[in-house]
Amino acid sequence: MDLYGKDLICTQEWEIEELVEVLDLAAKMKRDRFSPDWTSLLAHKTFFMFFYNPSVRTRQSFECAATELGGHAQFLEPKAMRLKTATTAGETVEDAAQVMSRYAHGLGIRILEDKIPYYGAGDELIREYAYWCTIPVISMAHDKFHPCQGLADLMGWSEWYGKGPGYPADPSVLYGKKLLVTWAHGALARSWCSVQEALLIGSRFGMDVTLAYPEGFDLDPEVIAWTEENCAENGRTFEIVHDPVAGYAGAHVVYSRHWMSPEAYKDGEFLKQQEIEKALRYPQWICDAEKMARTDNAIFTHPMPIDRGHEVTDDVASGPRSCIYDVAENRLHVQKAIMALTMGNL
Ligand code: CP
Repeated sequence: MDLYGKDLICTQEWEIEELVEVLDLAAKMKRDRFSPDWTSLLAHKTFFMFFYNPSVRTRQSFECAATELGGHAQFLEPKAMRLKTATTAGETVEDAAQVMSRYAHGLGIRILEDKIPYYGAGDELIREYAYWCTIPVISMAHDKFHPCQGLADLMGWSEWYGKGPGYPADPSVLYGKKLLVTWAHGALARSWCSVQEALLIGSRFGMDVTLAYPEGFDLDPEVIAWTEENCAENGRTFEIVHDPVAGYAGAHVVYSRHWMSPEAYKDGEFLKQQEIEKALRYPQWICDAEKMARTDNAIFTHPMPIDRGHEVTDDVASGPRSCIYDVAENRLHVQKAIMALTMGNL
């Protein structure tokens, strides 16, 4: 299977076999992290990381990943370039993408929340770069999807329900397990990318999926339709509930996270304060020990950063069934695998 040069914008656009290849290599890289088999795979190669928004995990893990593969990850931000925007003259995406392709071997882009005028604009931009680039374009989280997070989630859940970290992450152990993706109140007005990716990858790998949120916090209808299709193809169930407790019954993986409502963008503006005020009206939407007690000894998962005390209580987030740090660590391993396969000297 040749993944060299392939863009990664959403896991739904990759074949199952391709995703499994990433997970297999990531597990090997995790088990034997500094093996000479990997340390030159990106020798002399650069990965450009173009960040419109801040990050802890994504930037650090991509930088470490490039270092561990013998390459270099270079941080870029819009103010360091002279790009054309809706309101300013400057360089087009066509020109910037084609020039960057002459220097580096891969381009990562993060664009979401307040850096876009409407839902979907980040996805359009990343696809415009992918169209003009002759190197692979990797989403480092945009308004619609967060594929590296989805793969790290799946790897972590597979480890917890399989043999453990360092063993091949066999996602078949998740078949028939119940994934609860539940909205939570919070003060951060977050994008839909991580939860949408989790719905897609969980359903793709045969999990029963329950999505819970208060009325008015609908996700992208196209993602909901894909999740339904994925579940149907696997003979599994998909349901949506609007109750803060009901979805926990029998769950194996609980993913509790805030996301903004579809009214978050209006007339080209991100109404962050309005979204925060709206979300804080639902304090009962928090993952706590009482709700976790209704599950089938579920693990707690979250892509981080966590809004503790809003999205989840401390005792659950830091408890014995929390996989948050394993998933965060897996960002490093899956991104090493993605870079090795799409831009490396394998
Ligand atoms: N999960 C995630 O992408 O974290 P950062 O926003 O810190 O990169």
